[in-house]
Amino acid sequence: MTEQEFYGDRLPLLEAARRQLLDMIAEYPDTGMGGETMHTILYCTSRIKSPDSMIDKLTKHGVPANCNSALTEVNDAVGVRIICSFFDDVYRIADWLRARPELVIRETKDYVSYPKSNGYRSYHIILNIIDGPGAGLTCEIQIRTIAIDFWASLEHQMKYKHEIRHEALIRDELKRCADEIASIDLSMQTIRDLLAEDF
Ligand code: GTP
Ligand code: MG
Repeated sequence: MTEQEFYGDRLPLLEAARRQLLDMIAEYPDTGMGGETMHTILYCTSRIKSPDSMIDKLTKHGVPANCNSALTEVNDAVGVRIICSFFDDVYRIADWLRARPELVIRETKDYVSYPKSNGYRSYHIILNIIDGPGAGLTCEIQIRTIAIDFWASLEHQMKYKHEIRHEALIRDELKRCADEIASIDLSMQTIRDLLAEDF
């Protein structure tokens, strides 16, 4: 099923919300360090949830698998992911989003300070857009470091495999990598802070 078939006349609103969030995030101020501009946000990805995965999700939730439920029963028909270098930027970006007048933050999940048991670390925000082209929609923004994003894209592949050989080994290795990444993220942060003292 195509996006147009599933989301119908709501598709332009979903696209507008996605565009609005990306344009808003592009305004996030960069920091200067020694005359050089540091891009806090490395890049963003975004998507409108595919009809197939939306139908799966709605069915699992036991609600009708239609566009109306997609906009009212789940929060991530529109999803944006913000990738930054350092983990304290995750919180700065979250605070900045919290202060935006066109958004109302409904819920946050802090898997950065409270990682999932598999090692997943990200900061999730469920928000309502209350002003602008996407007004009326609920969306999800995920914020994470580039190192964790690398980990999460590999870990995510496990969700699509029905039978995984060496599953226990892979899960253990992923957890070990997540812990090492967390430690490296901390060290990189410390080095950045030490360097910043000299500017
Ligand atoms: P859904 O997963 O969307 O049904 O909702 P939830 O209530 O479980 O929300 P949660 O905030 O935990 O997860 C939302 C999204 O975060 C997922 O759809 C994934 O994109 C991402 N995510 C959550 N947990 C993991 C994880 O363990 N690994 C990876 N790679 N991504 C995850
Ligand atoms: Mg989940």
